[in-house]
Amino acid sequence: MPTPSAPISARPPDGAHKLAAEVRKLVGARLDILVANAGIATAAKIEDQTVEEFDRMFAVNVRAPFFLVQQLLPLPGEGSSVVLLSSLAARASVGLLPAYAATKGAVDTPVKHFAALLGPRGIRVNAVAPGVIDTDMSKFARSEEGRQFTLGMQALQRIGHPDDVADVVGFLASDSARWVTGDTVQVGGGSKL
Ligand SMILES: NC(=O)c1ccc[n+]([C@@H]2O[C@H](COP(=O)([O-])OP(=O)(O)OC[C@H]3O[C@@H](n4cnc5c(N)ncnc54)[C@H](OP(=O)(O)O)[C@@H]3O)[C@@H](O)[C@H]2O)c1
Repeated sequence: MPTPSAPISARPPDGAHKLAAEVRKLVGARLDILVANAGIATAAKIEDQTVEEFDRMFAVNVRAPFFLVQQLLPLPGEGSSVVLLSSLAARASVGLLPAYAATKGAVDTPVKHFAALLGPRGIRVNAVAPGVIDTDMSKFARSEEGRQFTLGMQALQRIGHPDDVADVVGFLASDSARWVTGDTVQVGGGSKL
């Protein structure tokens, strides 16, 4: 995989196509659940945002899940579920993340279009939008200052855990969510209410 500093030209545009080809070899003719979780985020003031980093975030956060869905399209069928990863940042201003936020807005929008286009095949498509979750991406929340910033915008007073998101992804992937499609579910402990 290219390093984060590699030029965009070094990031092959067909990564999702290659991954989909590998997935097809593994799962055969049917795919029940697709969760596109990979993502990257870098903070920058508007004035400091570089084109290079902007393109890198769009390549990983938007282009990859879009074409992963496209390339796997023959496999999902009646009852299959696709879940993409959005973010609280897509609907609210949090930190210096305007470019990252734009990538997640560009996840929420195709979710609705995919859901409409694939619904007749019985395929559901949704997104989850985590708030601050304790992973490497949001390690700022491990400092006292970051923790207080985070708690200050949440109704529930703890830092979100990966399991908090995984459980909602599991719900959306399951038959319990059989009547939910085209939606983005907020998973942020009541962030920015
Ligand atoms: N943590 C949060 O506060 C938060 C909030 C809202 C939304 N999200 C979203 O939740 C998702 C998961 O993020 P996270 O918190 O788990 O972040 P993370 O701890 O930084 O992990 C990111 C994951 O994405 C993978 N990845 C990154 N670039 C990739 C690439 N070019 N090709 C393949 N895989 C790549 C990484 O794989 P490697 O480990 O192999 O590099 C890693 O598994 C992301 O879509 C993120 O935008 C996170």
